Amino acid sequence: MGDSTRLVQALKPFCEKLRSVVESGSEIAIITHLDADGITSGSIISLALARMGARCSVRTVSDMNPSVIEKMKSDGHDFYVITDLGGGMAANFRKALGDRWVVIDHHQIPEEEILTDDAGQVLNAWKFGIDGGTEISAGGMAYMVASALDRKNRDLSCIAIVSAVGDRQDQGDKKSFLGVNREILEVAKSAGLVKVDLDIMLTGRETRPLHEALAFTSFPYIDGLTWNRDNCHAVLKNAGIKLKDNGRWRVPAEFSQEEKSAILEAIAKFVVTSSKTSASVIDDLIGNVYTLTGEDKRSQLRDAREFATLLNACGRIGKSGVGVAICMGDRNAMLTAGEEINAEYRTTLRTYISTIFSEKWRVSSSDDSGGGRVAIVNGDGLVAEDMLGAVSSLLSGSPTLAGRLLFVRTLAQDGSYRFSSRKALGCTSNANLGLIMRHCAEQNGGTGGGHAAAAGCRIPSHSIDSFLACLRSAINDEKFATTAAATPT
Ligand code: C5P
Repeated sequence: MGDSTRLVQALKPFCEKLRSVVESGSEIAIITHLDADGITSGSIISLALARMGARCSVRTVSDMNPSVIEKMKSDGHDFYVITDLGGGMAANFRKALGDRWVVIDHHQIPEEEILTDDAGQVLNAWKFGIDGGTEISAGGMAYMVASALDRKNRDLSCIAIVSAVGDRQDQGDKKSFLGVNREILEVAKSAGLVKVDLDIMLTGRETRPLHEALAFTSFPYIDGLTWNRDNCHAVLKNAGIKLKDNGRWRVPAEFSQEEKSAILEAIAKFVVTSSKTSASVIDDLIGNVYTLTGEDKRSQLRDAREFATLLNACGRIGKSGVGVAICMGDRNAMLTAGEEINAEYRTTLRTYISTIFSEKWRVSSSDDSGGGRVAIVNGDGLVAEDMLGAVSSLLSGSPTLAGRLLFVRTLAQDGSYRFSSRKALGCTSNANLGLIMRHCAEQNGGTGGGHAAAAGCRIPSHSIDSFLACLRSAINDEKFATTAAATPT
């Protein structure tokens, strides 16, 4: 496992470059990805630069591609900081922008990009022996820059924790952190910004009534309880759990240890009666929860996982600015707006998922001879391109698609196809989706990349058949295999 020593050494010249850009009065544009990790990383670097007196703005995009680079060139900002994007595209930036750019990222990059980065413009985890898929997020990388610029920026460590859970990097034992993420967590803990507890991991632990939180929890999937609010209510009520207090629903974070044991016991009893669910789900339900102690109780920002979900919603619904404002400290109008966006996001996702499963032609699964169990989901005419990643993440937890390499596609507004891929729950394939997406996209005139367990791409529509053929052969090609642990994102 990599540590931060080599990264810390590289931060010195990198920060000097940023300092001189700020001191020259340059107008800086931060271009970032629209998911939770993109919004947090862009916000962290924006705050750090603004605190130095920089003039800067943040813009989110759904992926980095030639038309985004063309727009950056024509916008004519003095300098560009690209976060959570741009892996493998240094040569394109150099051609379009000269030396007026840097990239802060954690996606795996080709060896060639490491070798040609003579001016040190690409600050990427993989360059320093750090696994950017599990040990540091883009928010973590941005935080490392921010804290090297000024120790005062250590207050942003809690935002980097939101980034890490948002990118599902809680991949250690019991959802703990690994590598540099763990080092950042120690900073946040010692500053009193984040508290870590081993607890029942329910979705919406600070905001939802207990039975709803249980019903919304899909990792692990509990047959009969997941997505079944009435059953959850009945099981908990019959076990004598006090669900309301003074007429108000109690949220999971409000239950005592003793009550939590009773809740687990009630779930365990239910699971024993179900032939479809293994008893180990009780074990899987327990994990580290990360609480942002400075946020109000019952706020969507107090639990780091809920915070990340809110940011994802903002980005995917096309309101990234609200997410950025929240990360930068706005807690009034913007938080209310964020909560409304989150509700709209959930409704949209629910409609997509139920349509995908009711229109049978949309899902095609195959068990091919090479050992690749694959599912391709067709979201054409249904799934908005910016929602694609959220849909594939949600589908990756569905028992119907368990064990498979999942590829979800949709027709984008510009006429190209977008793909989002995930390793579904229980998938044991050693295929590296990031390498596969990059290779197959590039072979077919597109762009792509990502991590071993979660990746995406964009390809021209006329290459769809040859892209799919390339995909089928790449998933069984050892050249694109990974030895890294893979869990769904
Ligand atoms: O869009 P989605 O959530 O599926 O993306 C999964 C991962 O793949 C993300 O980390 C994203 O940054 C990366 N990706 C990429 N290039 C693309 C699309 C996605 O590197 N064209």
